Amino acid sequence: MKALILCAGKGTRLQPITYSLPKHIIPIANQPIVFHIIKKLVNLGITEIGLIVGYKQKIIREVVGDGSQLGAYVEYFVQEEPKGLAHAVKMGQEFVKSEPFMVFLGDNIFEDDLRNFVKRYETEKPDSIVILKEVDEPERFGIAVLEGDKLVKVVEKPKHPQSNLAIAGVYIFDEKVFPAIDSLKPSWRGEYEITDAIQGLIDQNLIVKGEILEGKWLDTGKPKDILDANQYLMNKLKGWYIRGDIDKESKLENSVYIGTDSKIENCEITGPVVIGQRCVISNSTLYPNTCIGNECKITNTSIANSIVMKKCLISNVKGKILDSLIGENVTISNIKNSCSLLLGNNDIIKGE
Ligand code: G1P
Repeated sequence: MKALILCAGKGTRLQPITYSLPKHIIPIANQPIVFHIIKKLVNLGITEIGLIVGYKQKIIREVVGDGSQLGAYVEYFVQEEPKGLAHAVKMGQEFVKSEPFMVFLGDNIFEDDLRNFVKRYETEKPDSIVILKEVDEPERFGIAVLEGDKLVKVVEKPKHPQSNLAIAGVYIFDEKVFPAIDSLKPSWRGEYEITDAIQGLIDQNLIVKGEILEGKWLDTGKPKDILDANQYLMNKLKGWYIRGDIDKESKLENSVYIGTDSKIENCEITGPVVIGQRCVISNSTLYPNTCIGNECKITNTSIANSIVMKKCLISNVKGKILDSLIGENVTISNIKNSCSLLLGNNDIIKGE
């Protein structure tokens, strides 16, 4: 089976950080979101992957490359305009040809290994199968109504939801989905909805099944979702992985990962914390769920529950940087109070 990962979206709910980079490469537990997805697919034996890209595609291509660093073979297909998920899937038609294929939304993180989901498709041979998850705010999602394990109705972001089962971001289709996509009309939000294509399959009496997920589903659309997903994955880290130098004055507790050629001087670090390669962290305190990207320099600063991307310079923050998402190559200095920051690449924040 091949897979398509949909990575063309603009990530508007994550602006300003997505003004300078696509959300799919924001690091969670120091790995781009899309790496977590590709690894999950490779684990399932799905190595031929089509990435549907559009917005800031150059950066995605640079980071993911041909996929070989993750054991995958990645090809790219461009969705020129943001015309919706069904339209994005259509861009991968020549890649998947007539074989069944998985579609994975490029910003979704799942706890489950999805093995059971694939196994059910292979043994029960429905026309399509989707992952469903009970949610608290069904108005925000595509919602499915089930009879037994079959979908009888799906609605995108219903005003009056008939169930609380959201269609999470993973689907298996075969070639029959393409004519269903071709006959779609744009929805109220002007997009060709994958949910409407699924309704098209149901209307033809084709069998669409639902696999209700027990494990966690993290849809990383908003800054808080990113920090929650980071916290969740960081808490899975076990033990120590130290490749850098730590001086005698520094104290480390819980799980701490420190990359090659990083230097830690007179710091207190309470894990789970991940520090990338070639960083210098001095006279600072790092609290749980903090991730520091490669080549950062941090001095006289405290950071908690935050993602700091590569090449940042942070110094003399008297309070604490907490619950923050900080883009690449950001400079922060001389801040007196504690703060929560959402900063895009190359921002400069200098206090007095
Ligand atoms: C999209 C789909 C929706 C699905 C959701 C899952 O919504 O249209 O059916 O439930 O992803 O994340 P969007 O993120 O485009 O609002």
